[in-house]
Amino acid sequence: MAATKFSGQFQVSENVARMKASTTLAAMQAAEAMRAAGVDVVDLGAGEPDFDTPQNIKDAAAAAMRAGKTKYTATSGTRDLQQAIGQMYERDFGAIYERNQIMATSGGKQAIFNAVVSLINPDDEVLIPKPYWVTFPEIVTFARGRSVFIDTEENGFVLTADMVRKAITPKTKLIILNSPSNPSGRVIPPVEFKAIMEIVAEHDLYAVSDECYLRFVYPPATVFSAASLRPELRRRLCIAGSFSKTYAMTGWRIGYSLANADWTRAMLNVQGHSTSNASSISQAAATEALSGPQDSVATMLAEYTQRREWLLSALNEIPGLGCAHPEGAFYAFPDVRACLTGSLQTSEQFATELLEKEQTVVTDGAGFGAEGYIRISYATSLERLQEGVKRIRRVAEKYV
Ligand SMILES: Cc1ncc(COP(=O)(O)O)c(C=O)c1O
Repeated sequence: MAATKFSGQFQVSENVARMKASTTLAAMQAAEAMRAAGVDVVDLGAGEPDFDTPQNIKDAAAAAMRAGKTKYTATSGTRDLQQAIGQMYERDFGAIYERNQIMATSGGKQAIFNAVVSLINPDDEVLIPKPYWVTFPEIVTFARGRSVFIDTEENGFVLTADMVRKAITPKTKLIILNSPSNPSGRVIPPVEFKAIMEIVAEHDLYAVSDECYLRFVYPPATVFSAASLRPELRRRLCIAGSFSKTYAMTGWRIGYSLANADWTRAMLNVQGHSTSNASSISQAAATEALSGPQDSVATMLAEYTQRREWLLSALNEIPGLGCAHPEGAFYAFPDVRACLTGSLQTSEQFATELLEKEQTVVTDGAGFGAEGYIRISYATSLERLQEGVKRIRRVAEKYV
C-alpha cells in the first residue's frame, strides 16, 4: 500500500507523510459512496457492530447532559468512570488498578496512541505480529519507531512465545498484542499469552495489550485479559480497552488505558496537550455501560455466534476459499490465493472485483500485512451475510 499522496500545495510533515491512510476506513467510505448512489451494496467491510447502543447507556448520557455534566473533566477521566473500570477489572480479572493507573481516552485507538508515543524513541523496535490491525504500524511510524513484523501464518495466525523470542534484538522496546485479533479473529491461548509476557519481563520489554474485542470470544475459548496475569508480568504492560465493540459505542469515542503510574503520567501528558479529556457525556455513558445491566452484551454475542457458525461453514464450501475457525472478534479471514488466477493476481484485485462486479465490500488482507487473504466482517445481519456469500461465491467460481 502506497503512502498517502499530497498535492504539493501543502508541506506535510515528514512524520505524517510516512503514514498510510487506513484501508478499513477507505472500505467504509467506498461502501458509503455506493449506497449514496442508490446501489444495493453488501457491506462486509465494517469493523463496527450493526447493533444500536443499548438504551440504558443512551439514557445515562441524556441524564448527564440534563444534569449539566457538559464541562471539561480531569484529563484522566471522571472519578466515576475510573472507579467503574477499576471495579470491573477487580471483579472479572482479580486485578487491582489504582486511580493513578487508569485513564479514560477518546477510544481505544487513543489509548494505543498515547502508550506508543509516550514510550518510543527514534529507531526503537516495536514487535507487531502479522496480520495486524492497520493502525499499529502507523502509530509506530508517527513515533519514529521501527515496526518489526512477526509472521504468524505458519501457526494459523496465532502468535507463540517462541516466535517472540526469535524476533527480539537489542533494539526491541515494545510488543503490541491484540487478542482476539483484528483481522484474523484468532485468540492467543492464555497459557501462550502468559509465556509471551514472561519473555517480555525477562527482556525488560514493554507490552501493549489491545483488548478491544475482549468480550467477543466463542466457546471453547474463554474471555481472557492480560490483567489476570500476576503483577510481576504486568509491570511493563499497558492494556488498551474500548467500549466501541462491547457496547456498540463506536461513535461515542470512548476507551481507556491501564498501566503503571509512571507510564500513565506520561500518557496523561500526551493527552492533556492533545484532546484534554474524553467527552464528558461519553464518560457518563461508559460508566453506565460498565455498571448497568450486561444483558445487551450477551444478546449481541449470541447473535454473533449464530452468524459466525453459518458464515464459517458457508465460506469453507466456496471453491478456492479456505478459512480457519477464528475464536473471537467478528471477522472471518479466508485465504483466497487459490482464486488468484488470470486477471486476478492479488487479494486487492479480488476485493476490487467483488466491489465492482458484485457490489460487495470486503477488506483486502494486504493492508493488514497478509496478502492473499480478505477480511469479512459479520457485524451485519444474517440475511445480508447470506447475500454477500452468494456474491463472493460467484467471483470465486469464475476464477478458481
Ligand atoms: C484491534 C482494534 N483495536 C482498537 C480499535 C479502536 O477502537 P476504538 O478507538 O473505537 O475504541 C479497533 C477498531 O476497529 C480495533 O479493531
